[in-house]
Amino acid sequence: MVIYLRGDLGAGKTALVRALFLALGHTGRVKSPTFTLLEQYEAGGLHLRHFDLYRFRDESEWEASGFRDEFDGRNVCLVEWPEKARGLVPQADMEIGFEILPAGRKLTVRANTATARECLRSLQN
Ligand SMILES: Nc1ncnc2c1ncn2[C@@H]1O[C@H](COP(=O)(O)OP(=O)(O)OP(=O)(O)O)[C@@H](O)[C@H]1O
Ligand SMILES: [Mg+2]
Repeated sequence: MVIYLRGDLGAGKTALVRALFLALGHTGRVKSPTFTLLEQYEAGGLHLRHFDLYRFRDESEWEASGFRDEFDGRNVCLVEWPEKARGLVPQADMEIGFEILPAGRKLTVRANTATARECLRSLQN
């Protein structure tokens, strides 16, 4: 599954990923992959991949760092700044948009596939 996280710097994308991983049972740290671009976790029986592509520059890096293989369907990939690698990151099942409000944040969730719609439905129940 591929989940895009869109919003300005500091909008809360990493904060949401952190909360999600902790909720899935991860007990260690969740670092922002600002420089590494990718951090990997195993939690809740899922292979979790957290990308921050803000500093992604070079298309050749995509193949070289094996990022393509991470999207082969085995992993749940959460991607901050997907637009920085437009055309390389596969399409999103789910897109979460973050807006900074005077108090807190507004999130807009869009489900593009049946899998994502199922996730949304289970959130609503
Ligand atoms: N819902 C929220 N309400 C208030 N503060 C928040 C919220 N979410 C995140 N923050 C705070 O905003 C700061 C930046 O959040 P975070 O690192 O999650 O942003 P980001 O969207 O991942 O930014 P970047 O694009 O730089 O990676 C952190 O100090 C965090 O504690
Ligand atoms: Mg972040």
